[in-house]
Amino acid sequence: MPCGAESDDDVNVICGDAYVSLAICHDNYCKCINGAVIAADIKEGLRTPPMNYRHAYHAGNFADVVKHLAVVSVLHHLRKKNTAFAVIDSHAGCGAYNLTGPEASRTGEAAEGIARLTNVSGGPATLTTYLELASGARYPGSPLLAAQLLRPQDRLVAIEKHPAAAAALAMTLQPYAKARVEVADGYCRLLALVPPPEHRGLVLIDPPYESPDEFRDAASAVTAAYRRFATGIYLIWFPIKSAAEANGFCGEVLASGAAKVLRIDVTRRHAVEGKLNAAGLLVLNPPWQFELDMRASLDLILPRLECDARFDWLAGGT
Ligand SMILES: C[S@@+](CC[C@H](N)C(=O)[O-])C[C@H]1O[C@@H](n2cnc3c(N)ncnc32)[C@H](O)[C@@H]1O
Repeated sequence: MPCGAESDDDVNVICGDAYVSLAICHDNYCKCINGAVIAADIKEGLRTPPMNYRHAYHAGNFADVVKHLAVVSVLHHLRKKNTAFAVIDSHAGCGAYNLTGPEASRTGEAAEGIARLTNVSGGPATLTTYLELASGARYPGSPLLAAQLLRPQDRLVAIEKHPAAAAALAMTLQPYAKARVEVADGYCRLLALVPPPEHRGLVLIDPPYESPDEFRDAASAVTAAYRRFATGIYLIWFPIKSAAEANGFCGEVLASGAAKVLRIDVTRRHAVEGKLNAAGLLVLNPPWQFELDMRASLDLILPRLECDARFDWLAGGT
């Protein structure tokens, strides 16, 4: 846990408009000035980040919208009981995105995604809540959505390896007392954090899939986490660039032994060369009526996004 010790070093990072200083220490953990917790073993990684992926290019696209609706649907379900829950977001990103900034403007993905939903009304509470939370000046990423839906008894651990993204995330989540940012490897920390003492909650695994090993790493992490926390609700996002690769990944996750697994694929009606045209979500232990809730939201918004969805129970059923 945070040692609160004096830091040995500072790393200054810039993320969008945010310029912040992260303090790093040589102890196991050290508190940074924005309240994020940094694993000392990734200290070197903080200096020379190995990752190129920036979610700012993709925030608010069709796949993000569907993933974030699923997050809100699960959290609505968890909020129905007074008992506390935990949210573990293993690949959390920046937390909030400027959709008029250079990254979003360059890809135009948000313009074909969340921007097309401005006049949507009606539909299930999940959709209303999501659209309300997404209507602010900055588009909320998964940890900000979760932070806003926590009750005083709940908590969020948001893990992000990239220092600039983690710094921005720490600033974004600063107002939320029950949200903690860890600058670390999401897979390692996930295994240390499950089962959460609350014994109920959501695990979101949303890696960038920029490394060729990412499918394998994600499937191993889910399998190991599920063994420790078999009652948790897991949302695992994945890109579909090849049906064989996606099916193979789902097969590996199924081998975790999860009794209830729902797969939701979302595909653009008009494929665009060089773009992501399909993405999937694996939901382990989906809550009661999650499928109905998602179908009702997607029926309303997918025509606007010019996408289609397919639901498949890979294990168990409603
Ligand atoms: C797809 S984005 C996350 C988006 C976020 N979940 C959301 O929905 O708003 C993936 C993030 O994972 C981070 N990342 C990459 N490898 C990581 C690792 N091993 N552990 C934690 N974060 C990692 C990237 O820097 C990137 O910010």
